[in-house]
Amino acid sequence: MRGGGAEEGLVRNEFADLMELARGLALRAGEITLKYFGEVLVADEKADGTPVTRADREAETLLRSEIRRLYPDHSILGEEFGEHTGPAPVRWILDPIDGTLAFRRGIPRYAVLIGIEIEGEPGGGGAHFPALDETVTAARDEGCNWWPRGSGSSVSARVSEVGNLENALALTTDPERISVSAVGSGWRSLGGRVELVRGWGDAYGHLLVATGRAEVMVDPSLSPWDAAPLLPIVTESGGRFTDLQGNETIHGGSGVSTNGRVHQAVLDILREGV
Ligand code: 2AM
Ligand code: CA
Repeated sequence: MRGGGAEEGLVRNEFADLMELARGLALRAGEITLKYFGEVLVADEKADGTPVTRADREAETLLRSEIRRLYPDHSILGEEFGEHTGPAPVRWILDPIDGTLAFRRGIPRYAVLIGIEIEGEPGGGGAHFPALDETVTAARDEGCNWWPRGSGSSVSARVSEVGNLENALALTTDPERISVSAVGSGWRSLGGRVELVRGWGDAYGHLLVATGRAEVMVDPSLSPWDAAPLLPIVTESGGRFTDLQGNETIHGGSGVSTNGRVHQAVLDILREGV
């Protein structure tokens, strides 16, 4: 673990077990979502204006009940069912469907996200894209494993080696939302500097950075359950994940993933005029 910190209180084998469980649970929750994928699902609107469906709730229920059955003393924070606090130093952070807006439209770029914090620090996590059949998992200082589509075995995920913005692909979740955010003008200047801008967002954008297919993914608004597995996934692939202020945290309310080489330049441009 980085700085010897995040795994404190857990021996290495125990942490490996948690990571294996995280992957298995993400696959099982993904199966639940696939039962509903392509159906027209009734959605309820949450307080933040985003939709939640039966598929989100059923998938999170499975994740929570399995974690509580196996590790009753662990804490759990889930997007749909909130916080459960236990005495152990481990907290599971769950987003049963990241990209519900895409999911409901039958667009396959959605993910089951599972992050694991140890004593408040990101320890590892997984992102599974059920309809794309792609999975990534990462544990701090252990690298990032990527199961590409159709592959029964994993390879090491690596960010790209692009060193200048002129050759970079930059992504965001919602072009409208970022353009009216505090970094709207910075985002437009970044767009003028990079080779290509696309809106392939949500966790999928961070997956593309971690696996070397894009260089920059910026989300001005991220919850801890969106960010929890993405920080270890991107950093263990050789990139950087920070909030817009440059702090390596899942609690900053925003998320910038890059291949590392262009990170500071991206932050500087985004923050021009802020
Ligand atoms: P969700 O599908 O789990 O709700 C970061 O942008 C995350 O915020 C997305 O991955 C998505 O997570 C949610 N989101 C997407 N578009 C949004 C919007 N317009 N307003 C609020 N949240 C949004
Ligand atoms: Ca969600």
